[in-house]
Amino acid sequence: MLVGPYRLPSPVYVAPMAGVTDAPFRRLAAEFGAGLACTEMISSEALVRRNPESFRLMDLRWDRRPVSVQLMGGSPEVMAEAARMAEAHGADIVDINMGCPVPKVVKTSGGASLLREPDRAARVAAAVVAAVRVPVTTKIRLGWDFESRNYLQMARLLEAAGVSALAVHGRTRSQGYDPWADWEAIGQVKAAVRIPVAGSGDLRRDVDAAARQEQTAVDAVMLGRGILGNLWLIRQTVYHLQTGDRLPDLSWAERIALVRRHCDLVLEYYGPERGSRLLRKFVAWGLKGFKGAPRLREMVNTLTGPEQVDVVLDEALRTDPGLLTTADEEAPVAESCQAVA
Ligand SMILES: Cc1cc2nc3c(=O)[nH]c(=O)nc-3n(C[C@H](O)[C@H](O)[C@H](O)COP(=O)(O)O)c2cc1C
Repeated sequence: MLVGPYRLPSPVYVAPMAGVTDAPFRRLAAEFGAGLACTEMISSEALVRRNPESFRLMDLRWDRRPVSVQLMGGSPEVMAEAARMAEAHGADIVDINMGCPVPKVVKTSGGASLLREPDRAARVAAAVVAAVRVPVTTKIRLGWDFESRNYLQMARLLEAAGVSALAVHGRTRSQGYDPWADWEAIGQVKAAVRIPVAGSGDLRRDVDAAARQEQTAVDAVMLGRGILGNLWLIRQTVYHLQTGDRLPDLSWAERIALVRRHCDLVLEYYGPERGSRLLRKFVAWGLKGFKGAPRLREMVNTLTGPEQVDVVLDEALRTDPGLLTTADEEAPVAESCQAVA
């Protein structure tokens, strides 16, 4: 799997997710064999204004290379300047967000609103490509809404603008995160362009990824909500795509050990105060799908310090998990791209 000059270790990508794919998350994903991880979305306007939080989102010290930095914005000039800053900061790949549906983003002509203005989208892509030496990639949705689906036009325009690879989330902007992603459309994009295409949407099990790759011939699969609380799915998917065999799910104790390790990394990265606030959601996701989870989740919501993490996780270890099947697990609700800095 090649993106620009980079040969990636696997065709299993981590979907960019605001509020999720931070440095600790990306480190664990790389350990589990992810071929490529991407930062959370970064507003180009905030970055060029030198907002400190934008630099924090672009902190790549913990990453295995190559790593991608995702930028969002609708101005070709500002996006070009932000891309130059990202490259200077160490980005190996600059990714352009053309899919974020949240009103705050769409209002700025960035994210999914670029799907309504294909000419502007092409100008943004061309300006970014011209501004940096590293490869530029783009993540799109199928269109603004069902009636105006323009994914093939967008894919061809972006390829012509010099983009090195595409990722396609198989939904329109109006669909948000439901219902099911349209993988047939993703397959049409793959057939329409020569650059590598990654597919995104509803990959919850290793066999889903294999089936979708087989169906569409995409070059890579992107794991999104399926890895919230279950980063192990990355290892399972890589293994299944490589060998055709399947790795078992983690045991309850192994799952808790992974949550513990994730917490340690979050605390190490952010420090105890900010880290304790942030890790609540990771603990809650890590324990989801088990019968004892609601009570543990209540405990998690009161977490205020690192020492309490141990209390919750020790309690979790003593709990009979009453394992539900993967199919019974409730999918975490899409929080969408709220954390735009
Ligand atoms: C919490 C959350 C945050 C997201 N943030 C971003 C983002 O910053 N940039 C982006 O391109 N897509 C973002 N997405 C979309 C995902 O990358 C992915 O395309 C989408 O969730 C579909 O995959 P799934 O059905 O496997 O979750 C986000 C999705 C979720 C659930």
